[in-house]
Amino acid sequence: MPNPFLGVEGASVSFGQGEARVCALRDVSLTFERGTLSLLMGPSGSGKTTLLSMLGCLLSPDEGTVFVDGVAVNGLSEAERTVIRQKKISFVFQAFRLFHSLSALDNVALGFEIRDAAASGRKEMARDLLLQFGLGDKLHQEPDDLSPGEKQRVAIARALAGNPPILLADEPTASLDAEAGRNICNILRRQVDEHGRTVVVVSHDWRWEKFADRTVTLCDGKVEEEVSVL
Ligand SMILES: Nc1ncnc2c1ncn2[C@@H]1O[C@H](COP(=O)(O)OP(=O)(O)OP(=O)(O)O)[C@@H](O)[C@H]1O
Ligand SMILES: [Mg+2]
Repeated sequence: MPNPFLGVEGASVSFGQGEARVCALRDVSLTFERGTLSLLMGPSGSGKTTLLSMLGCLLSPDEGTVFVDGVAVNGLSEAERTVIRQKKISFVFQAFRLFHSLSALDNVALGFEIRDAAASGRKEMARDLLLQFGLGDKLHQEPDDLSPGEKQRVAIARALAGNPPILLADEPTASLDAEAGRNICNILRRQVDEHGRTVVVVSHDWRWEKFADRTVTLCDGKVEEEVSVL
């Protein structure tokens, strides 16, 4: 069997020691096919962010294996994992995490700089992405002057700088109203359909269901249910 494109095999993660020890994930095995959008649901504390952090090479499991782009990454050195994280993976968060003193354009251009310091034409590439996301008239605005939906579009544009094949989003629509949320769902779906990216969205938001190829529900650190759309 070839390695999965993205996934975990027999992964367990715990935090703390002794009495304070919390088991965040218990023997979880999941694979995420290339070019799919998976929705990860489950109650608070069920391990969703922990799983996303593992897939994003920010956290290593106590036991088990993590695969990114078909490579078992927890056998690699920290430096090798960092390279994989920079080249292959991008994150989107509920709180946007934009740089407040930079314009929308500079936020996205910085994304290109971080991924590929040698890249030329960063501003032009950043402008193209923002135009695609309907932000052509907001290029020079700073985040504080943008609506929540616009901020999230800038954050996604920044995440896509450098063309990463994997996008991991933790509650990307939780701070958005219905229309802005739908817009973000459409944008991330297009990343799958038009660019073949692999997208994993953690959300409590049922609006995501019709945009996802499958839904995985975690409970108490285990996979409770996995439902694919055929
Ligand atoms: N850095 C940490 N230190 C200690 N415990 C942690 C840490 N990160 C997560 N946990 C614990 O691990 C469990 C799973 O947490 P996790 O953040 O993955 O849940 P979640 O499903 O993302 O929840 P939420 O929906 O509230 O974001 C919880 O019991 C949490 O308290
Ligand atoms: Mg979480």
